[in-house]
Amino acid sequence: MTDVIIRRATPDDAEAISAIWEVICAERVYTAVNRPFSTEQEREYIAGLSDREGVFVAEVEGRIVGFQSLDRWVHYTDSFDHVGTLGTFVLPEWRGKGIARQLARYTLDFARAHGYEKLVIFVRAGNRRARAFYRSLGFAPCGVLTRQVKIDGQYEDEVFMEMFL
Ligand SMILES: CC(C)(COP(=O)(O)OP(=O)(O)OC[C@H]1O[C@@H](n2cnc3c(N)ncnc32)[C@H](O)[C@@H]1OP(=O)(O)O)[C@@H](O)C(=O)NCCC(=O)NCCS
Repeated sequence: MTDVIIRRATPDDAEAISAIWEVICAERVYTAVNRPFSTEQEREYIAGLSDREGVFVAEVEGRIVGFQSLDRWVHYTDSFDHVGTLGTFVLPEWRGKGIARQLARYTLDFARAHGYEKLVIFVRAGNRRARAFYRSLGFAPCGVLTRQVKIDGQYEDEVFMEMFL
């Protein structure tokens, strides 16, 4: 397969990442985020991340084709400092080529090296591919949150998943 470079994003990657949000939000069915983050919002977000958090991008021939974010689960107390959460987004034409798997290898190594002990995610129940992807990484489903997302007037459940590092 084509060479893929995985690296930590800088605020200068905000435009490319915002462009991916636009594509994925327009698809409507994969993420609970229903409006894309603008370049400015994304730039501010990346610039504000702590040393223990990051956005990691997959680059093919100089073009960002996907990214994965690692954030602390919550910021209001340090009782959850060992828990992180992930988001993973790959452009449609690059799906099914192992990009997310390569991103995850990088992000999970980073998470282990930065004191996380477990990761938690919510996935829209209808997003079978993402559920299969997270299961393949070692996430186990823990339960279902009913009518947790409401987009375009339609409710959807979310599956709650966790993984111990
Ligand atoms: C979910 C997503 C991130 C996976 O990225 P990807 O680069 O296509 O995934 P990979 O090619 O690295 O595949 C990794 C694993 O995911 C699973 N997977 C990927 N595509 C799949 C499919 N169509 N059906 C079932 N499982 C699939 C497999 O376990 C696969 O491992 P394998 O190739 O060894 O079988 C990508 O499809 C995506 O961006 N979807 C839209 C956004 C989204 O749903 N994000 C998650 C929000 S919680």
